[in-house]
Amino acid sequence: MLDLKRQYCPLHQELLEAVGRVLESQQFILGEPVAAFERAAAERLGVAHALGCSSGTDALWLAMAAAGIGPGKAVLTTPFSFFASVSAILRAGATAVLADIEPTTFNLDPAAVESVLDGPRGTNVAAILPVHLYGQAANWTEFARIGKARDLKLIEDAAQAWGAEWNGVKAGGLGDAAAFSFYPTKNLSAAGDAGMITTHSAELAERAKMLRQHGMRRRYYHDEIGWNTRLDGMQGAILNVKLKYIDGWNQARRTVAKRYQGLFRAAGLVEAGPYPNHGIVLPHEVPGSHHVWHQFVIRTPRRDALRDFLTVRGIGSEIYYPVPLHLQESLKGLGYEKGSFPEAERAAHEVLALPIFPELREDEQQTVVAAIAEFLS
Ligand SMILES: Cc1ncc(COP(=O)(O)O)c(C=O)c1O
Repeated sequence: MLDLKRQYCPLHQELLEAVGRVLESQQFILGEPVAAFERAAAERLGVAHALGCSSGTDALWLAMAAAGIGPGKAVLTTPFSFFASVSAILRAGATAVLADIEPTTFNLDPAAVESVLDGPRGTNVAAILPVHLYGQAANWTEFARIGKARDLKLIEDAAQAWGAEWNGVKAGGLGDAAAFSFYPTKNLSAAGDAGMITTHSAELAERAKMLRQHGMRRRYYHDEIGWNTRLDGMQGAILNVKLKYIDGWNQARRTVAKRYQGLFRAAGLVEAGPYPNHGIVLPHEVPGSHHVWHQFVIRTPRRDALRDFLTVRGIGSEIYYPVPLHLQESLKGLGYEKGSFPEAERAAHEVLALPIFPELREDEQQTVVAAIAEFLS
């Protein structure tokens, strides 16, 4: 599914030297390696401010808290994402409101968002949190229009989308604030937990900086109840090394995705979609979007049987995500039920992520496609 060693081996020496410099400095929390990474990351993404923190989950919380989201306010997001997209809203003290997804991209559906905003659950919504799922930006033309028309904050969950773009603007610079994850399996990854928030706003960045370090502007003077969510120097140093390579890695992912498209078509396995009948429906890049293929996710009706078949042949695959968030045990309190979001529920039964990473070889992809062809025959 993912062989991280193929990325690590050629960088071994460079990474050791970067970590060695942090050890020599004995400065482990924030400090110059983190500041250097933040400056370089902001420049790459075309944003004024980037702030490292301890995880993508914390970045979501920090972005919302800094944007003034808290008790009495609601945030509208997708039921088809990693758990943190919703749990961070709740941790910020706000209410989570959900709307269904588009069946083609699996991203939050702007039309569904508008109808929720017009309904009873839309009343206290102060922000929309679209997730750029699988490495493809949510439809920002529409979300920017909705946000402006209704005076809502837009916060991006860009955890899976380093380098993705919408109409030439990089994820991270589309909304009022954005959250990134550098969890080891992400396109740009640390050697442990790490995250970052980005924003164009000096005011929001200043608040986030204060909140990530116990609400302190001045040492031991606590203006607000913040938290400890700092990025450590080793992660900053490692990320700064990898930042030099990420554009090339993302380009390689695009090549891998294109190769899958060609191989599946050549094998005659592809159906038009959005829903599959007997074969598979392929993911695609929508107009205006620059996809960075964090995942290559197919839809197929006999998903679980296919996954078992691949496992027996030593081919990794994963289900992102088997249970939509509104049906998670811990989120029953949101007040939704089975049938509330039919697109998300159907996707949860049909999606299967295939191996994808920059170093994946063509012969390995041929093996994956041949195994799927065998299953479908
Ligand atoms: C969409 C999404 N949001 C948030 C997160 C949380 O990031 P982290 O695992 O770094 O806390 C992740 C990653 O796991 C994610 O995929």
